[in-house]
Amino acid sequence: MRLLIMGAPGAGKGTQATLIKDRYNIPHISTGDMFRQEMASGSELGQLAKSFIDKGNLVPDEVTINIVRNRLANDDCKKGFLLDGFPRTIDQAIALDKILKDLKVKLDAVINIDIEDSLLIKRITGRRVCPKCGASFHVEASKPKVDGVCDYCGSALIQRDDDKEETLKTRLENYYKKTEPVLSYYEKQNLVKNVCGKGSIEDIFNNVTSVLGERK
Ligand code: AP5
Repeated sequence: MRLLIMGAPGAGKGTQATLIKDRYNIPHISTGDMFRQEMASGSELGQLAKSFIDKGNLVPDEVTINIVRNRLANDDCKKGFLLDGFPRTIDQAIALDKILKDLKVKLDAVINIDIEDSLLIKRITGRRVCPKCGASFHVEASKPKVDGVCDYCGSALIQRDDDKEETLKTRLENYYKKTEPVLSYYEKQNLVKNVCGKGSIEDIFNNVTSVLGERK
């Protein structure tokens, strides 16, 4: 399975990706997670990424494309992959086509999680993440067992710096202006599988596996 998962900020891409990677036994490659790891390490790349992410802007294409090109060349991607948060611009989509052509592989499907803006704000502002292992929770929909504490590593949960309502506004503007056209790009290739993003995490996952036809 070679998959992309797309959708607005907070649509539930990361949440569904965690379930999809286990079901289909493929690596989950999230450019947002990769940037957050670099930011946490304080690397030069992390500092560069932070200067864009904290304002709700996209990291420049050439930086992001390089990271993905290197990641997809890893051996674990030979059995397939799930790309989350990439491509986010038409130039990234064109670059991905070239990367996949060089690897002599093709995409199987693009899962698009479709959701209205009012729900996104609730999801983003209620999200709490683990700064150590990256696990994600929600204050109402996906509570940790102990309030404010990561279920997996026991660290104190935090709110992402880019999850403030004013930053979300810029993220949404960027999504509609730069990322939504990428969907039309894949619609022309008949790859898009739309999934309604409203409902429980389990119901949405059932819809995802149903549009994928339970392929393994
Ligand atoms: P990234 O991390 O990719 O952020 P995003 O696309 O804005 O998506 P989110 O992580 O905010 O949301 P999600 O859809 O994964 O939702 P989640 O499952 O967590 O990127 C961050 C930044 O990095 C970007 O803004 C950009 O600056 C940069 N970047 C990344 N990729 C880039 C690229 N290709 N090019 C340039 N720059 C790039 O769910 C959200 C919350 O809702 C959670 O709390 C969850 O528990 C809850 N939830 C999920 N599903 C449900 C449900 N069904 N019901 C109730 N609650 C739910």
